[in-house]
Amino acid sequence: MCGVIGYVGLGANPDFFFNGLKRLEYRGYDSAGIAMLTSDGTISVERAEGKLANLQSKLARLPAKATVGIGHTRWATHGRPTENNAHPHRSGDIVLLHNGIIENYRPLKEALMAKGYTFTSETDTEVAAHLLNAEYSALPASLPAFEKMQKAIYKTVAQLKGAFAFGILCTKTPDVLYAVRLGSPMVIGEGEGEYYMASGITALVEHTRRVMFLEDHEVAFLRSSGLTLTDFQGAPVKRDFQKVEWSVSMMEKGGYRHFMLKEIHEQPQAIAQTLQGRLEREAGRVNIVDYGAAALPLKSIDRLQIIACGTSFYSGLLAKFFIEKFARIPVEVDLASEYRYRVSTVTKNTLAVAVSQSGETMDTLQAIKFARSSGAFTLGVLNVPGSSIAVACHAESLIHAGPEIGVASTKAFSAQVTNLMMLGLALAQERETMKPNEIGQVIEELVKIPAFVEQCLGLSDAIEKLANKYHSERSILFIGRGPQWAVALEGALKLKELSYIHAEAYAAGELKHGPIALIDEDLTVVCLAPRDEYYEKTISNIEEIKARGGKILAVGTEGDKDLMALADDFIGVPPTSSIVSPFATTVPLHLLAYWIAVRKGTDVDQPRNLAKSVTVE
Ligand code: F6R
Repeated sequence: MCGVIGYVGLGANPDFFFNGLKRLEYRGYDSAGIAMLTSDGTISVERAEGKLANLQSKLARLPAKATVGIGHTRWATHGRPTENNAHPHRSGDIVLLHNGIIENYRPLKEALMAKGYTFTSETDTEVAAHLLNAEYSALPASLPAFEKMQKAIYKTVAQLKGAFAFGILCTKTPDVLYAVRLGSPMVIGEGEGEYYMASGITALVEHTRRVMFLEDHEVAFLRSSGLTLTDFQGAPVKRDFQKVEWSVSMMEKGGYRHFMLKEIHEQPQAIAQTLQGRLEREAGRVNIVDYGAAALPLKSIDRLQIIACGTSFYSGLLAKFFIEKFARIPVEVDLASEYRYRVSTVTKNTLAVAVSQSGETMDTLQAIKFARSSGAFTLGVLNVPGSSIAVACHAESLIHAGPEIGVASTKAFSAQVTNLMMLGLALAQERETMKPNEIGQVIEELVKIPAFVEQCLGLSDAIEKLANKYHSERSILFIGRGPQWAVALEGALKLKELSYIHAEAYAAGELKHGPIALIDEDLTVVCLAPRDEYYEKTISNIEEIKARGGKILAVGTEGDKDLMALADDFIGVPPTSSIVSPFATTVPLHLLAYWIAVRKGTDVDQPRNLAKSVTVE
C-alpha cells in the first residue's frame, strides 16, 4: 500500500508530484505529502490529511521548481490518517517517505528517544527518518555529505526489519534522490537528463517508458547525470532499463464516469490480450509461460496449489473446475494468508501458482516464497510487469489485462480465469489427458469469450434500473453451483466492498445446510442459474427459496421461462457453452455492484478502508 513518487533533474514543479500521486492514489488515499528540495538546499514539505485533493490547495506554498523531490499517498498502518502521520517525515537534514512496515520500530524508537530524538507522529516511518539522521550525524563532519548519506543508508537498513521502499532527500545533497527497496515495490524511470522513482509504473509512463525495477536489498542513487545502483553492502549492481508497453491513455478514464466502469467494459479486450499469441488453433496447442517456460516441468506435475487473495482467490476457485476437468489433476485453492500457517505438503511435483493482479500482495508473496522454499515449482499469474511476486517465482505468465486502477478488481478477474484455463490446457497436453482435437475444441470456445462478454455489457442499462430497486437492501445472498459458485463469491465480494451492503455467497447445495434459515420476505437472493449441467439442481434450490418467501434476482440464460417464472427479477445472458458461461454471468454481477454503489453514492474507485495493492500481512 502507499504510493511514492520521486524526481531528480533540471526541475520539476509541484504539479509533477501531485499528478504522479494522482496516478498512485489507488494504492492508498488517507493522507498525502510532497517535499521539494531546491538547488540551494532549501527544503519545503507540505502534507494534508484525507484525500489527495486536500493537498492541492497547499501546492502554492511549495517552490515553483525543484531539482529533486518526493511525494507520498498513504494507506495507514501505524497511526491514524492525520496530517502529522502523513509522509514525508523530517529529521534534521533528512526527509524520508516510506511504503511498507518497519516491524521492529518499537525498540528502535525507544533507543532514539533515549538519544533525545522527539517524535511528532505515531508512524513507524518516523523511526527510519530519525535513525538515518542519527547514523548520518554520527559520521565525521569532514566526510562529503553524499558519502555520509551512502554510509548512513547502509547502516540504517541493516538495523531495520520488515518491508520498505524509501524515497529520501538530504538538504546537503540537493542534486541526489535516494531510492531504497526491501519487500515493497520501487521502479526507476529514465528520462532526458532526469530520473524518476515510483511505486508503480502507472506514475511513470507519461514521462518515460524506460524503466528498471529495483530488487530487494538494493539502493539507487539518482542524479540528473546518471544512476548508481548498489546492494545493501555497497557492492555495485548492474541492470539495464527495459521498455514497458503501458500507455497514458490506458490510465485515463476515457470518457467513463469511473475507472471501474471503464475496466468492466475493457474485459473483452483484456481477455483477448490474455489469449493473444498463446493458442495454436490448428494444432490444438497452448503455450502460456512468458519466462521460465523451459524449466516448468508440466509433464511431471501431479498436483496444483493455487494461492491468492480476494478476487484472485475466486478466479482460482473458478479455474479449478476446468483445470481438474482438462488435466485430471488435483487442484487445491488456498487463501494466501492461511497457506503458510499449515504444514507444507508440497513435493517437487507440486506446481504452486500465485495469482495476483498487482504482483505485490504481501500475503501471496510470502505464501509463494514458502511454497518455493518447501520444494514446489512456482509460477506467477500476474498483471503488473516486474512485480515482487514475479521475482519470487520460477516462472511467470502475464495476463496482459493492462493497468487496473479501480480498487475493485474486474477485468483482471476475467483475464486471470482465462489464463488459468489455458494453464489447464497446457497441463492436459503435456499429461496427454486430452487429445489435440479436444484441446482444439476448448480453444475454439476460449476465443469466443470476448464477443460474449461484449454482448453481456449491453445489459448495463437494465442493471442500472435494477440497482434502483435493490440499493437499499441490508443484506444480499448469492448462490451458484459448480463454476457459478465461484462467480457468486466474486459477485458478493464486489457488492460488499463497493456498496457496503452485507453480502454472502454460498454453493447453492449448501443452502439447506444452514443459510436457508436466513430466508424470509426481506432477503434478496441473487441466484446464478444459466442452462448448464448444474441447472436442474440449482432450480430446485431456487424453488426452496421461493417456498420460504425469499426475493429472487435470477441470472440465467436469455429466454429461460421457467427461471423467469420463479424470479422477481431476471437478467438474461446469451446461451453459451460451460466454458464461456462463467464469464458471461460475471459481467452482470460486476455491473450490479457498480450501479448499486453509484446509486448509494459511495466512492466507487476508492472504497473506504481499501487499497489496490495490499503490501501488509
Ligand atoms: C477485490 C479486490 C481484492 C484483490 C486482492 C488481491 O475487488 O480487488 O480482493 O483481488 O486484494 O489482490 P492482487 O490480485 O493484487 O493480489
